[in-house]
Amino acid sequence: MAMVSTYCPQFNGLRRSCPKLDNAQPQSFLQHINSQLRLSSSRKPCRAVIAMAGSGKFFVGGNWKCNGTKDSITKLVSDLNSAKLETDVDVVVAPPFVYLDQVNATLTDRIEVSAQNSWIGKGGAFTGEISVEQLKDIGCKWVILGHSERRHVIGEDDQFIGKKAAYALNEGLGVIACIGELLEEREAGKTFDVCFQQLKSFADVVPSWDNIVIAYEPVWAIGTGKVATPQQAQEVHVAVRDWLKKNVSEEVASKTRIIYGGSVNGSNCVELAKQEDIDGFLVGGASLKGPEFATIVNSVISKRVAA
Ligand code: PGA
Repeated sequence: MAMVSTYCPQFNGLRRSCPKLDNAQPQSFLQHINSQLRLSSSRKPCRAVIAMAGSGKFFVGGNWKCNGTKDSITKLVSDLNSAKLETDVDVVVAPPFVYLDQVNATLTDRIEVSAQNSWIGKGGAFTGEISVEQLKDIGCKWVILGHSERRHVIGEDDQFIGKKAAYALNEGLGVIACIGELLEEREAGKTFDVCFQQLKSFADVVPSWDNIVIAYEPVWAIGTGKVATPQQAQEVHVAVRDWLKKNVSEEVASKTRIIYGGSVNGSNCVELAKQEDIDGFLVGGASLKGPEFATIVNSVISKRVAA
């Protein structure tokens, strides 16, 4: 029995791997015997483990951006409330500010609510801004910061975004911290430089990484229908995890969820989710359709392997 339980899964550094699925490794005689033992003990069902490089729970966020009306949001909330969502996923939606209270009051507790932005400090004479305290007051748990639309359309810079993140975290909000390169930066071979610089400006100011989810969102993939290939996304996610390991700590590298965003939909989510370093998604357009968003949440199933 002890032999069986040591068979799978194995931890290999940060990576959780299942040798049974690794064709490159020939089976030893002992492994062969173990697998026969497993097969013959038919009364004990196979356990499913999540094959992820990090140790954090799968996380899927829906960024509704500047979309919706009272009526369309009522319908979306009702679709989400009746959706069947896998249990081992943290699910968050980010409605526009004016609908946050409506959504929070009507949405199932299974799904948490996020804002799409917050002010850099305590509220006061800042026309048009919304403070972290106000967000907490209406039950908001998260805020998306550093989104490329705020960086490149509104003109927010690393320092400003860093201030917002530090303030929100200090006040107890979770932060979905977005990073990602422009198309010309990718073409110039600067993807890692850009992502690491954006990561560093978070790392320099945040009090802790406990409440941060990193969203890697290549700007060329956002709202364009041009999704990164699973390999392109995985390559950057590994590099981000490695950066955290070298510049923050091994523990933070393992625990911090690194989610992918950019044209994720119900059809491409499964292949992306299979990548070991993709710990979930930040979804824009496809999060406006309840059933499709549920499909994306449930893509966690494709990460499960038999143990
Ligand atoms: P998209 O947006 O899924 O519509 O590309 C993703 C995002 O901006 O978070």
